[in-house]
Amino acid sequence: MLTKGQNVVINENVSFGENIIIGNNVVIYEGTVIGSNVIIQDNAVIGKQPTRAKASILPEVKKLPPTQIGNGVTVGTSTIIYANATIADDVFIADLATVRERVTIGEKTIVGRGVAVENDCTVGSYCKLETNCYITAYSELGDYVFIAPCVVTTNDNYMARGKERFDKFKGITVEKGGRIGANSTILPGKTIHEEGAVAAGSLVSKDVESESLVMGSPAKKYKEVDEAQLLKNQ
Ligand SMILES: CC(C)(COP(=O)(O)OP(=O)(O)OC[C@H]1O[C@@H](n2cnc3c(N)ncnc32)[C@H](O)[C@@H]1OP(=O)(O)O)[C@@H](O)C(=O)NCCC(=O)NCCS
Repeated sequence: MLTKGQNVVINENVSFGENIIIGNNVVIYEGTVIGSNVIIQDNAVIGKQPTRAKASILPEVKKLPPTQIGNGVTVGTSTIIYANATIADDVFIADLATVRERVTIGEKTIVGRGVAVENDCTVGSYCKLETNCYITAYSELGDYVFIAPCVVTTNDNYMARGKERFDKFKGITVEKGGRIGANSTILPGKTIHEEGAVAAGSLVSKDVESESLVMGSPAKKYKEVDEAQLLKNQ
């Protein structure tokens, strides 16, 4: 069954599984594949082709393939999911989030309110990306990663100047079970190794060792992650 509100635009060749609920003013672009038991709330846009600014450094792209939404997914109010994204089963995307082109999100991950996941990121399964965190382009997050509210990740040490920056963009990597506390900043290309953790308000300028908790600006090792907090003990 497909229940839909008013003013819903469903473009050509969009496919749906069973039991779909669509709110008002939703736009679903051409070819999007949507699984079963999916809820799409008011004003959501799915499968949007990226638009290139005149001054953008990104190459002009041809039309991207459609987005795929798995079973049991919720897409919150006013969320935008671009084309060529892959959203696995039971992902929950809250209101006002943006998920850019070529992003993949693993099953049961929660993408919080107002989160931005920029282009070409990979997000694992069972992750929690909390309110208003910013995941910079080309980042890789493993399974069970936790990103607290208002975390900022970065990928350009040249801050938009100089030609040498073009082949040096590098997103961040957070390995399985890595955690980043509220309002921290992670510098370009840094890796938080498995189950590494970052205290709130830290500036991460070096890789974080596995199972270490770092703190401060610049962040330094403070202690080992408490045994009780490791994934194997949950
Ligand atoms: C690191 C953390 C877990 C606290 O660890 P803790 O061992 O319990 O630390 P304490 O509260 O006993 O404080 C120990 C010292 O570190 C300082 N400190 C604690 N957290 C700090 C932080 N994030 N940055 C800098 N210093 C910090 C304290 O002021 C204290 O300093 P003092 O010894 O000079 O008095 C906690 O501060 C933190 O960052 N939590 C993450 C919160 C968060 O983002 N949650 C997710 C979203 S809700």
